[in-house]
This record gives sequence, C-alpha cells and structure tokens, in this order.
Amino acid sequence: MDIKGIISKMTVEEKAGLCSGKDFWRTKAVERLGVPQIMVSDGPHGLRKQDDQADHMGVNDAIKAVCFPAGCAASATFNRELIEEMGKALGDECQAENVAVILGPAVNIKRSPLCGRNFEYYSEDPYLAGEIAKSHIRGVQSRNVGTSIKHFLANSQEHRRLTSSSEIDERTIREIYLPAFETAVKEEQPWTVMCSYNRINGIHASENKTYLTDILREEWGFEGFVVSDWGAVNNRVKGLEAGLDLEMPSTIGDYNDKLIVDAVKNGELSEEVLDKACERILRIVERYTENRAEGTEFDYDAHHSLARKIAEEGIVLLKNEDNILPVKKEEKLAVIGAFAKVPRYQGGGSSHINSYKVDSALDFIGGLENVTFALGYEAESDRPDEKLISEAVETAKNADKAIIFAGLPDSFESEGFDRGHMRMPACQNELIMRVSKVQPNVIVVLHNGSPVEMPWVNEVKGILEAYLGGQAIAGAVCDVLFGNVNPSGKLGETFPIRLEDNPSYLYYIGEKDRVEYREGVFVGYRYYDKKKMDVLFPFGHGLSYTTFGYKFITLDKETMSDKDELRVTVTVKNTGKVYGKETVQLYVAPKTEGVIRPVRELKGFEKVSLMPGEEKEVTFILSKRDFSYWNTEIHDWFAQSGEYVIEAGSSSRDIRLGKSVEMCSGDKVPVVYDLNTTVGDLLKNKATRDIFKDYEHMFALGVDSHDVEEATMGASTLKMQISILECLPLRNALNFGTESADFSKVLELIRRLNEHKE
Ligand code: BGC
Repeated sequence: MDIKGIISKMTVEEKAGLCSGKDFWRTKAVERLGVPQIMVSDGPHGLRKQDDQADHMGVNDAIKAVCFPAGCAASATFNRELIEEMGKALGDECQAENVAVILGPAVNIKRSPLCGRNFEYYSEDPYLAGEIAKSHIRGVQSRNVGTSIKHFLANSQEHRRLTSSSEIDERTIREIYLPAFETAVKEEQPWTVMCSYNRINGIHASENKTYLTDILREEWGFEGFVVSDWGAVNNRVKGLEAGLDLEMPSTIGDYNDKLIVDAVKNGELSEEVLDKACERILRIVERYTENRAEGTEFDYDAHHSLARKIAEEGIVLLKNEDNILPVKKEEKLAVIGAFAKVPRYQGGGSSHINSYKVDSALDFIGGLENVTFALGYEAESDRPDEKLISEAVETAKNADKAIIFAGLPDSFESEGFDRGHMRMPACQNELIMRVSKVQPNVIVVLHNGSPVEMPWVNEVKGILEAYLGGQAIAGAVCDVLFGNVNPSGKLGETFPIRLEDNPSYLYYIGEKDRVEYREGVFVGYRYYDKKKMDVLFPFGHGLSYTTFGYKFITLDKETMSDKDELRVTVTVKNTGKVYGKETVQLYVAPKTEGVIRPVRELKGFEKVSLMPGEEKEVTFILSKRDFSYWNTEIHDWFAQSGEYVIEAGSSSRDIRLGKSVEMCSGDKVPVVYDLNTTVGDLLKNKATRDIFKDYEHMFALGVDSHDVEEATMGASTLKMQISILECLPLRNALNFGTESADFSKVLELIRRLNEHKE
C-alpha cells in the first residue's frame, strides 16, 4: 500500500471516518482507494468473535472458540514459554476467523482484591505482569495478528470505571502502573494500545497527551495505533490531538466523525494530526492484510490440550499439611461441590468465551470405584442449604478424604462491578466448616478469579487454587489431585487474611469519581512486607509434591556502577523424590537510606524443571533500572548509591539466599543549598562537611559535638542537642548560634556550597 499516497487522496470526511469503527468490531474500508476493513475481537484468553448482535459485555453469543486460562491463572504459571504458546494458538484462531487484532492482554495492576476484573489481570506486581504480557504478545503477533494491550492506564477498579479519576502521584505511576505497559511496548511492540475508560489525575485516558503521546510514543517509541476502550471517548477532537487514533465503536450518526471534520474545517484541528492517525491505522491494516495467512486451520482438540497444560501449571498448591495430596486411587474419596460438576472456569464480561467444550472433574473421577459425590451447595447461591450440607457431611463421614470444590459464583465477580467484600458464599464456607468437623482429611479446590478470605484455613489440610483456569481446568485439577502432575503454580498476588489488611482498603472505591491511590507504591507485597504483616498466602507462594534446595547464589561483582550489568546465578536442586518445577524468584532489596522504598521487589524469575536429585543453575542479569526508584526531582530513574541485597527465593516470604552488592551511582540528583539547608545534610557528606568546618563556630555546637563527653551533659540531653543541631536550617544560626554568627558569613557558606557542587 502506498499509505502516504492514499492519505493524500482521501477527503477529510473519509479520514475522519477511518478514525472510528464501521460497526462494533470493524474498521471502515475506503473502497475507492483500495483500503480494506479489518476486524478486531476480544480477548484476551480466547477469541470472542461476534457477527451480529454485537456487545462489549459478553452478553450475546460469539463463535465457538477455546477458552484458555484467564489472566489470574496465566500469570500463576510464571511460564513465559507456555504463555507464548497460548498466544500462538490465539493467533491461529484469529487467522482462521480473519480477525486482525485480538483485544488483550489486560495488564492492569491488582490494587485491591475487590476489583471485579482481577480475574482477567495478571498481578499486583508490575514486573510479573509485564513479563507475562510480553510472552502473550510475542505469541499472538508471531501469527501476524495484532494485540491490544489494555487498559492504559490506572484502570484498577470497575466501579464508575467510565468517569472515575485515578489520582496518583508521579512516582507511583512510574513504579507501579506504567511498567507492565512499558516493557511490553518497548520489547514487543503490540500493534495497538487500548486506552482505558477512567481519567488519570482528572484527564480522561482517551485524551491524555502525557500518556498517549509524551510517554507512550515519544519516550517508549510505540509505533502502532491507540484505540479507545469501547465508549471511552469523552471529547473526540481533544482525543485525536492527544494521540487517540481509532474510536471504537463508532458513534450513532457518525456524530464524532463530524466533529473532527468541523474541527479541521474551522482550523481548530490541524489536518496533519488527522493524517498521522490515519497513517497509523493504515499501517496496521496493511500489516495484517498483506501478510494474511489465508487458509489457516487449527485443531480445537490440540488447543484444548494446550489449555489444559497451561491450566496445570497455573494451579497453585497453597497448603499441603501431612502431605494429604496427592490422593491415591485406592482411597475412598468424597467429592463435594457444584463446581466439581461444572467448574467456574472463566469470568463474566467482554472476555466471556463461547467455549468449544468444558471439562468436568466428575467426568474424570466420578466413575472411579471409591468415589462418592454430594452437591453441597447450588453454584449461584449464597445462603446455606441444610439438606445439601447434611448430605455432604454424611458422604464425607464415610470416606478417607473429602475433596470440596468451592470458589466464587459468576454473580460475585465480573467485569462491570467490584466485589463488596472478599468472602466466599456463606453456603460454601459453612459447608467446608461442617465437613471438616466430621472429616479430618479435607482438601479444598478453589475456582475464583481473585483472593478470598478463608475462615476455615486451619480446619482443612489441603488447598488447591485452581483460579479461573479455562475450559480444560477440570482435567488439570484431577491430574494434580492424583499426582499425575506435580503442581508448580505460584501466586501472582498476595492473599491477605482479611480485606481490611489490604493497603487500598481505606480509599477503595473512592468518593464519587475521585479515587486516591494513597498507598502509593506500597501495593500488594510491597505493603505487607514493609508493615511486617502476616498474610494468608504471600506473593510468589506455591508448594510442590517435591522439595527444592537453594544451594548457591553468586554475583559477578561486589561493587557496580549504574552503567554495569550484574550477573547473578542461583543453583537450585530437586531434593525430593518426584519430578517437579520450581520458579526461582529474584528480588532486589535496597538497604539504602533516605528514600522510602519497599523492602524487596521482584526483578527476575525463571521456572526450571528438575528430576529428583537434579540441580540446575539459573542466570539473571540486573541493571540500573532494577535498582532504581523514580526520582521526582530529576523526573527519571535513579539508582541510589549504597548496598542492595540480591535475594533468591521460592516466594516473597521464603527467601533462601542473598548476597550484597554495592552500587556506586554515576548519576547525581542536583542539590541546591539555601538558607533552609540543614546542618545535618551538610554533615552527611565529606565535601560539604569540610566546607562547613570553616563556619561551624557560628553554630551552637560544632561538628565535633559528637565527641562531647556524655558525662558533661547527660546522654539524653546530648542526643537532643545533636538532633536539634542536625535539623537546624542554616538561617537559624542567627537565632540559636554563637556570638560569632554573621548573616553575610552564612550567605558565603551557601555560595561556597553551591559553587563546590559545580
Ligand atoms: C472492555 C474491553 C473490551 C471492550 C470490547 C470493554 O467494555 O473494557 O476490555 O475489549 O469492551 O468488548
């Protein structure tokens, strides 16, 4: 396509038209110039291609497709290769159906367990979310199908999602809410980015130039087009100027297209801006159509098997007291729960797939000789049903072990609204309690998209978090239960003991449209670790049927500069009796002072497969960014000089090895000395301390005051004096200083300090 040539021949009306959809899912063709339409569809974990009766809430039917594990389960695999495979399969389904862009991945940060859409999102941790997103994008786009990383930006709740403003400070946005998008854009170039519904610090994401242009394109080099979330456009003309290229779906009567035309015609909007948006859209149209893999076919069953494999690795063994799992075929098992018949395997809303087939755990194990079944509760119910509970209790009494399939019903979590609490249905909690009174060997299998409170956690011996694991989850669960598969999933989010423990609790869901992200960078484990709080299950947690020994950690240097790379190797060994996989997690723990930072942050992970007795070495490369925080004085990443401990662990709360490295930063945060500079700040640094020596006589206590005999003053008075002096601004020499204090000398000191800096 001669894109520039085509644009030069298009009328303003045609150009404006190209910047909004033809209908719910298609772009407009410009037939006279040979521009075809392309189709986009949801995503993210399956293809939701609708023909007629389109909607963005998953209400109406779509074609049959394979429902892969949702984001919560995909991230729990910590397996980049598997997620890339899933992406390839999705890409093939899109090619087979002539869909050019599949809307996802969804990488919003899980700020609160209550967000209705957490099931679709990856993690509370931006590094994990970014890594999984990259793999998803790489896989899909390897099939010449585009992705749409979403929802850009800070869309971490569903309540009032179209109007609310996420009020976030600069450092928090940079450290927590931007990085998953940043890594994905910089490393995988998704074809499109979907802006979110909400506002960010008052400005709609769909017309927020800071994010859509300054950061996304100019800083990160994004090359594709920005599409609005469905109905996210507030002011079409402002949006176009800010960097929003395609509005989806179109507006009735092409209302917004006409606003663009008017704005160009009356000079309010430069035609160049419109041309640029058209060019970006046409480049993707060209990329898809000119490399179209016509005739692509796929095997539904092969994709089902892949979905099962991913589901297997996304299952997290939360608890396994007395090695209650795996169960043996000979044991008498009471299988209980409506989710054993039909699992809850996907969430509600725009990601809802018309699944090709759905496995049931009962179909796999119900036929076994020693298995009995009781319903226990109705899937959509909250209230306990005495009859169903009593039947389940009776069944459990007569078995060796009881396996209860539980979790959250559709009505408890979905796109479009947030949860009001973190509890499971009362009927399920009561069922688990009552069964555990008569049966000491209880295993709970959970189907839920986000953390739940577990009042029964100490009453049961085994807990498997199966998440919303896609249409093949039931087979995967059975394989894990019986030990055909060794569980290897890890939590991409903390399970707090109770909702009130969560750092966003005081501010979530905000007041009207103002949602203040006051916990700042302390999201998830960053908060629980800093507060040394007990949690139900920590970030990164996940047990195995084998054990892993962490043997050595080596760093290739003891001291590094912020220009260097640090090579870290960790040796891990399977010290148990069965084959298994372990995710070695690498955290960086700053020991520096002066800046309030999380205790540790995830900066690497590698999943390794190990036969019993086998050991492997995994390598990580760390560089400046991994040590940095976002400094709001220089508006850049800054790796403070000082000590950092590089930690390797099996979870964020199970750190097995650690070694220190000394960072000597080449960057400087500019300091301006003035009358409010404190004496203490000058004493910290040798150069400024030396200059200060010439003036210390003006202050009540000189630098040598630290050496004053405690005996002459009394220890606490001395401490107080030193503390007061250290916090004393230079201007106060005239109030509290010695007779020799002289204002012109204070100004001279400040001048010398500032000169020295240069
Ligand atoms: C959702 C998007 C989705 C779009 C199209 C919106 O409501 O937020 O994630 O891709 O609808 O269905």
